[in-house]
Amino acid sequence: MDVPATVRTALADRPVEGRRCLEAGAGAGNAAAGLLDAGAADVLAVTNDREHARTVRERVGTDHPGRVGVFEADLRSIPLPDDSVAVVTAHALFNVVPTTDLDVIASEITRVAAPGAHLLVDDYAPLPDGASIRDLFALENAARELADARPALTFYPGGVLRGVFETRGWEFDRRKTLLDPVPWTESHVTAHADTVRDAAARIDGDLRNVLVNRTDSLVTEIGSESVGEMYSLAFQLPE
Ligand SMILES: C[S@@+](CC[C@H](N)C(=O)[O-])C[C@H]1O[C@@H](n2cnc3c(N)ncnc32)[C@H](O)[C@@H]1O
Repeated sequence: MDVPATVRTALADRPVEGRRCLEAGAGAGNAAAGLLDAGAADVLAVTNDREHARTVRERVGTDHPGRVGVFEADLRSIPLPDDSVAVVTAHALFNVVPTTDLDVIASEITRVAAPGAHLLVDDYAPLPDGASIRDLFALENAARELADARPALTFYPGGVLRGVFETRGWEFDRRKTLLDPVPWTESHVTAHADTVRDAAARIDGDLRNVLVNRTDSLVTEIGSESVGEMYSLAFQLPE
């Protein structure tokens, strides 16, 4: 499968060749594909979403037989021993991690990383005032909070995630910009609107219609929008 440019750029200065890697939050497996392409010995991909796990097995696993292990598991309790991986990627993970889970996931990533391990944290910076897509993300968070008592999205400043890992012993190496602006395409807008509609369907009362109607008009208003930054932070544990 094709490796997205953001993943290639983030991995370009990381030593991946011959190492055991963890993709924390596998999604579609883009980082797993990038790690394998960069010569990883093998990649362990963890996601708590059954559909994502199946996608990674199909999209990445079949191209690299014997080099991909997919775990359907919670990153708050990673099913790997201490000190067992040499490279960790959290590519576009933390924007779907609520503040309540941030510390425990960072501690678990640190526990499974071997001395000298490398870590990449790639994510979206908070969107600036005036960004229309922010209104859609606000609706998504409102709908998910009402339906599930959890937000859908949290955009952490790079400095916050840097501090979270530095306090766990990771040495900060560098920050890179991967996208500026971020192209939020029509298909992104549609996918986020669908999340609002799915969550709204689980809410009783008038609010459901308010959320859905506002989402429908925002999709038309926004179309697509290029705004914000995606950054990449690199760290290493002492040997
Ligand atoms: C936006 S996707 C990440 C994209 C992916 N890294 C890539 O490069 O294509 C976020 C992934 O993290 C997973 N995730 C979020 N919170 C999680 C948790 N607590 N435990 C396990 N997986 C989690 C989601 O299910 C999803 O698969």
